[in-house]
Amino acid sequence: MDINRRIAASVENLAAELIALRRKLHEHPELAFEEHETAKAVAGFLEKLGIPFRKAVGKTGIVALIDGGKPGPTVGIRADMDALPINEQTGLPFASKVPGKMHACGHDVHTVIALGVAATLAGMKSELRGRVKLIFQPAEETLSGAQAMIADGALEDPKMDVVLGYHNWPAVEAGKVGYNTEAVMSSADAFDITLKGREGHGAHPHMGIDALAAGAYLVAQLQTIVSREVKPLSPAVLTVGEFHAGTARNIIAGAAQLKGIVRTMEAAVSAQIEAAMRRMLEGIKASMRVEYTLDWKRVAPALRNHKPTLERVLRAAREALGAENVVELPEASMGSEDFAWFAERVPAAHLRIGSKIAGLDTAIHRANYDCNEAAIPLGVRVMTRAVLEFAEK
Ligand code: NI
Repeated sequence: MDINRRIAASVENLAAELIALRRKLHEHPELAFEEHETAKAVAGFLEKLGIPFRKAVGKTGIVALIDGGKPGPTVGIRADMDALPINEQTGLPFASKVPGKMHACGHDVHTVIALGVAATLAGMKSELRGRVKLIFQPAEETLSGAQAMIADGALEDPKMDVVLGYHNWPAVEAGKVGYNTEAVMSSADAFDITLKGREGHGAHPHMGIDALAAGAYLVAQLQTIVSREVKPLSPAVLTVGEFHAGTARNIIAGAAQLKGIVRTMEAAVSAQIEAAMRRMLEGIKASMRVEYTLDWKRVAPALRNHKPTLERVLRAAREALGAENVVELPEASMGSEDFAWFAERVPAAHLRIGSKIAGLDTAIHRANYDCNEAAIPLGVRVMTRAVLEFAEK
């Protein structure tokens, strides 16, 4: 039987179980690094299939390996497992039973899709060339789980030749998958600035050094990095989201704290922005007499597809779903996704699995978010076929 029909047959057998498990996970959402019950459910499913795995990789993560025993590449597939601190307002019969926590990004769906891929591939183990590594990642929402798993050896033993990622996407019709040709999601760099001046009586500004006034100039200056220094065709966002200074109306503020995030699609642009920020801080120091500290932290790199890997994934997706159901997305997202830490080290491709529900006005991270469950069997079909593009004769 043709491989797509075999996959479809396996998915048909699995769909009800996967949907039931998704609903169970949906009722019991767990936040970043608290995915203990979710990990237990994943472990239980893998155990039933006889697939060996390591647990507690990056606290609550799991790495499983399907090895057909033949030489070939190691193909990784990654699913995220965590929920969000949102009070669910969907009214679904399987809505969250945990106040203030909700699977509002569909990571419950992602988890069962990877399990469906595992189950389908386990049934084809003797035909596999190489190995398939399944990565169940915690803490994507805090952009910290991927690094925690990498620190615990998720990239080693065995090393991956390619790694595939996916996310449900309510903007894409159910039944279709979407892709970006190169840039998928932006980087996120967090910056913390402190300015130190000298407190003084508000009536005697000449005796103090006003950190608040310096901070206000700095906020305005920072806006010129994107508008005046970054090439207009290179997307970049610089947001100062917090500015704290001062204690009373008649006291010169002796200190100011600013916090923000920079997002770009290219590491070189992020580096350019950091350098400009440091230069402006030196300028503020010279011109307004404040001392400063800058703490710049890479939270996630930009997520970019490895073109040859994406080409193979798209070929597989078109074969599995029909070319008309594989659509190029109009634009990349300025949000971030920590799958990028894997994609920075291993050739990677990322797909969006259509999860639109007709008539429902929603988006991820909203209290009324819901994912079309048709994304589950479709996700298993397309991701299994994509894995086999690399791990089959
Ligand atoms: Ni998400």
